[in-house]
Amino acid sequence: MDLKNYKIVGGAMSWISDPTLVAAMANAGALGVLATGAMDGPMLDLALKEIKQKTDRDFAVNLIGISPHYNELLKVCSDHKIKAIIIAATIPRRDKIAQVKAIGAKVLAFATSLKIAQDLIKNGIDAIILEGNEAGGHVGMISTSILIQDILFNLPDFPIFVAGGIGTPEMVKHCIAMGATGCQLGTRFVCSKESPMHEKTKQFYISQQARDTVVVGALNPIFSVIPVRVIKNKAVDDFYDRQRQAIKLLENEEISLLDAQMMIEHFWSGSLRRGVIEGDLEYGSLMAGQSISFVKGEETVHEIIDSMVSLI
Ligand SMILES: Cc1cc2nc3c(=O)[nH]c(=O)nc-3n(C[C@H](O)[C@H](O)[C@H](O)COP(=O)(O)O)c2cc1C
Repeated sequence: MDLKNYKIVGGAMSWISDPTLVAAMANAGALGVLATGAMDGPMLDLALKEIKQKTDRDFAVNLIGISPHYNELLKVCSDHKIKAIIIAATIPRRDKIAQVKAIGAKVLAFATSLKIAQDLIKNGIDAIILEGNEAGGHVGMISTSILIQDILFNLPDFPIFVAGGIGTPEMVKHCIAMGATGCQLGTRFVCSKESPMHEKTKQFYISQQARDTVVVGALNPIFSVIPVRVIKNKAVDDFYDRQRQAIKLLENEEISLLDAQMMIEHFWSGSLRRGVIEGDLEYGSLMAGQSISFVKGEETVHEIIDSMVSLI
């Protein structure tokens, strides 16, 4: 597989990037990425079989680097001869990258600074995704335009995909003109016809604009909570309440710092399903990036991808 052939990567989205969506992306010429955040080995095996029934083309799998199921999931990817793996939620070290390469897959990871990108390259990464703060889901603090200047402009010959706030064919064209291999998009696909998102949530997303999203993070710096960009609703208040509760339990020495951290981290994984699959617009998490402004209706994955690459 040559990653340079892909202009669009359909970024993994927990609960949303299921076999149907991934296969549709692959069939439309993009690199579809399966989300595995809520999976164990047998679930991944089933999902990969389902994708293979729906497409003959290559696709990628997103593995959460800190998942307790990581090794089990990698073994299933190896059994299925998966050609590309994106390691998320951590900066993979040399041994982790080598472990994936040993199964014959290309390895991609996220970089939020030039130094991180250079270290990843030194450690054998095949491509880098630079993802700015405009993105939906877990985010860093730096904007896409800064990361483009910091990383893309300093590594002109290395395969780099730009993510975070990409939502128009003009922007895809300009990223490629600036040296990117392509772009990774997530939010632009949430309301696609093939997305399993609840119809009510789809219609709500279509009505939203960039300014309706907020980044929520840690109330207290002792928690290393990764900030999350979501559409503002009551779940955001609930999240802060949950943190206040955890801080109180910790101060009273009723739980450990690790348990408090877990109490906070698990909030989003549970509530995302409620928001995007069950249609709970009030208390479910509604992860979305600022490119929600460009989601104006329900289109097929094919239509979205054709449009995104139409100016290249
Ligand atoms: C609802 C939602 C869920 C996401 N879940 C994941 C995930 O499980 N793993 C991951 O690496 N990225 C996740 N992301 C990030 C996307 O893969 C992608 O990098 C991001 O959406 C790109 O920015 P954009 O939203 O501006 O297009 C998620 C994004 C959204 C909107």
